[in-house]
Amino acid sequence: MKDNPESGDLHVAIIMDGNGRWAQKRGKPRLFGHHAGARRVSEVLEACPDLGVKYLTIFAFSTENWKRTQSEVAGLMSLFRRYIEREAHRLAEKGVRVRFIGDRVRLDQKLVKLMDDLEALTEGNDLVHLTIALNYGSRDEVARATRRLAQDVAAGRLAPGDVDEETLPRYLDTCLLPDPDLVIRTSGEARISNFLLWQSAYAEYEFVDTLWPDFSAAEFVKVVGRYHQRERRFGAVPG
Ligand code: FPP
Repeated sequence: MKDNPESGDLHVAIIMDGNGRWAQKRGKPRLFGHHAGARRVSEVLEACPDLGVKYLTIFAFSTENWKRTQSEVAGLMSLFRRYIEREAHRLAEKGVRVRFIGDRVRLDQKLVKLMDDLEALTEGNDLVHLTIALNYGSRDEVARATRRLAQDVAAGRLAPGDVDEETLPRYLDTCLLPDPDLVIRTSGEARISNFLLWQSAYAEYEFVDTLWPDFSAAEFVKVVGRYHQRERRFGAVPG
């Protein structure tokens, strides 16, 4: 894991919130909003290379989202399957490397196979790194990481004294990614909802009122532009 404060290789992470309200405002079922949200993912992803956004991480389904109705959960899972089936070849051809973070154990085996296949299909790509957080929660991730770390200590592969802030992130799902530079949350809510808690220690945050299905590439460009106006200090005094 590395910080990349100055480079053009930005890492933007997005909490895509507001699909349900967007649908309800139109008198439609919540899933209608999730489908509209999926179209925005493609649009925002396409804007990344021109903006110097090399890493895009999106929060698609949290460890807490299982509390939604069974029909919404099933609809979302089917949307993820269809998104992967429909987009896999286009993503591969466009130079997108796709990764998934989160705990796969609770996910349907058919979906997990599609996820594995898409990761393998795109592993040689490097234009944009799209990371999809699916059954992801930061606390769960840190707990799983700590469990593996403890196993390495118990097996004598790691000394307790060697556990520090460089070692622990190697066990996180995001071990191959830089830390996010910018975290965006749509829909007017100012919460981080268990998303990339360790990784975003020095991220800049943007909370925008737009509901995710209305979040256009043009707005994405503006938000990234605002990020560039900010001075990042990483705890130091201004230079
Ligand atoms: C939060 O809005 C959104 C989600 C829990 C699902 C996010 C999923 C997508 C945008 C679908 C597309 C994703 C991929 C990877 C194809 P909400 O339902 O909580 O909205 P609300 O707060 O208005 O109810």
